[in-house]
Amino acid sequence: MGRLQHLKEAVLLVMVMGLLKRSSGAVDHRSMKMVDGVNREGPFFGIVVPNSFEMNPLLQSPSFVPNETLPYLDISGRRFRIGRLENEKVIIVMTGLSMLNAGITTELLLTLFNVKGVLHYGIAGNANPNLQIGDVTIPQYWAHTGLWNWQRFGDGPDSELAFESDGDYTRKIGYLNIASFNNHTGSGKADQNLLNNVWYQPEEIFPVNGVPEVRQHAFWVPVDKHYFTISKKIKDLKLGQCVNSTCLPRAPMVVRVDRGVSANVFVDNSAYRQFLYSKFNATAIDMESASIALVCHQHKIPFIAIRSLSDLAGGGSSLSNEAAIFASLAVQNAVDVLLRFIALLLSS
Ligand SMILES: *[C@@H]1O[C@H](CO)[C@@H](O)[C@H](O)[C@H]1NC(C)=O
Ligand SMILES: *[C@@H]1O[C@H](CO)[C@@H](O)[C@H](O)[C@H]1NC(C)=O
Ligand SMILES: *[C@@H]1O[C@H](CO)[C@@H](O)[C@H](O)[C@H]1NC(C)=O
Ligand SMILES: *[C@@H]1O[C@H](CO)[C@@H](O)[C@H](O)[C@H]1NC(C)=O
Repeated sequence: MGRLQHLKEAVLLVMVMGLLKRSSGAVDHRSMKMVDGVNREGPFFGIVVPNSFEMNPLLQSPSFVPNETLPYLDISGRRFRIGRLENEKVIIVMTGLSMLNAGITTELLLTLFNVKGVLHYGIAGNANPNLQIGDVTIPQYWAHTGLWNWQRFGDGPDSELAFESDGDYTRKIGYLNIASFNNHTGSGKADQNLLNNVWYQPEEIFPVNGVPEVRQHAFWVPVDKHYFTISKKIKDLKLGQCVNSTCLPRAPMVVRVDRGVSANVFVDNSAYRQFLYSKFNATAIDMESASIALVCHQHKIPFIAIRSLSDLAGGGSSLSNEAAIFASLAVQNAVDVLLRFIALLLSS
């Protein structure tokens, strides 16, 4: 091997090491410096939104003014958009579908940026028979209803669950008995069902002020008290009722409700929707809110979620595809409520 070859290899090695140095960890040095710069202008409200269909009407709203010098920062596959909303400093970020994406994105937002509160909005399925498509809900509590202990066949509500004695799982929250959803044809006794019961479990959490690696548990996570109080004042906001010439039977309203639930499940099933309503008093059913609530709860950052109802979560009658017709109206209604909420928050 010639001298020149050695030299080339050495140069290459130095270059590679340089690259490694700059890109060690998820956020490179240059981005980190820009994050520092942005944070000096904070604090910001973090606006977290599931997908582009829900985010675009906000970006297109005249209330949103992107920052002239630095409209966004791209980090870890997410775009953090910097600007002002209702003249308040915000960072808007899209999560992508479901709990993992929502959790990762919120964690990045709160770890990297100087955020004083998280405002989340989007559309949701509806389990509450008193409400209709287009209504905008603001639940007081959120739970992740997708963490289960699936009980073995033969065991029942009086049997201890696997690992229950270790404190890993609990029977406190309740269960879904699959056999009770058999469609009986009137032939006597309930059939047994090998799928048996699934028991809902609280999330293991590690709050910032807790002892590292010492778990706590959380099922119902409340939204911020102050935010929830303020949201009461939005109820008179006039919302869209028609898509082209197709109108909803009554004008949509803004309602503070008791509960919302989230899981990695698109609920398009009437029986499960009714179960979620009767068991948990859930109104909004979605795939992200509880995850964002859980991350904010652990960071001790105020949080609220605004979710407009875009379909009946499988409970629709003749309109089997309500979501397709009214989804854009539902998104716009959620955006309108978010803007009013920010305005009220600033004047409070
Ligand atoms: C936004 O842009 C202005 C200039 O238009 C600048 O002074 C300000 O620092 C920027 N804010 C952030 C958060 O980058
Ligand atoms: C339950 O069974 C009855 C009788 O076969 C049938 O008419 C009904 O549509 C079934 N319901 C569902 C939800 O499948
Ligand atoms: C269920 O929620 C509704 C509002 O969403 C509330 O008015 C009602 O009091 C709640 N019921 C129970 C039993 O908590
Ligand atoms: C409403 O009308 C616009 C313009 O004609 C059209 O682009 C859009 O697809 C219509 N929306 C629905 C849901 O029919």
